[in-house]
Amino acid sequence: MIALGADHGGYALKEEIKQYLDAKGIPYKDFGCYNTESVDYPDMAKAPCEAVVAGECEKALLFCGTGVGISIAANKIKGIRACCCSDAFSAKYTRLHNNANALCLGGRVVGAGLATELVELFLTTEFEGGRHARRIEKIAALEG
Ligand code: RB5
Repeated sequence: MIALGADHGGYALKEEIKQYLDAKGIPYKDFGCYNTESVDYPDMAKAPCEAVVAGECEKALLFCGTGVGISIAANKIKGIRACCCSDAFSAKYTRLHNNANALCLGGRVVGAGLATELVELFLTTEFEGGRHARRIEKIAALEG
C-alpha cells in the first residue's frame, strides 16, 4: 500500500501518478488534497508519513510545487527518509543507499512522464543494505 499526499501545487501530478498506479494495479491510499484549493504542505505531509511510520503503508509519494517543502516537512517526522528528486539517478540511489521511504516530486518541476519513471524506479528498487544499513542507523540516531 502506497500513501499519497499533496498540496495544491502537487495535486495535478498526484492525480497523474494515480493513473500510473491504477494501471499497474498498485494499491494506494490518497490522503489528499483533493482539489486545487490552497493548503499548507506540512499539513499534507503528516498523515501519509504517519501511515508509513505506523506500517500501514510501505512508502509515501508526496507532491508539492517544488517537492522541496513537502520533503523538508516529511523529514521532520521520525522514521521518514524523504528524498526530493527530479532525476532518475537520485530516485534509484535514494532507495539503494538511503532506503528512502518517501519520494517527493515537484508538480511545477517535473512533467508526468518523468515523474512516472521516477516513481517506478523508486517503487521497484530495493535497499542494498550492507554498509548503507550502518548509515541509516546513524540517521535514526540523529532523530534522538
Ligand atoms: C505552494 O505555493 C508552494 O510553496 C508549495 O507547493 C511548495 O512548492 C513548497 O515548497
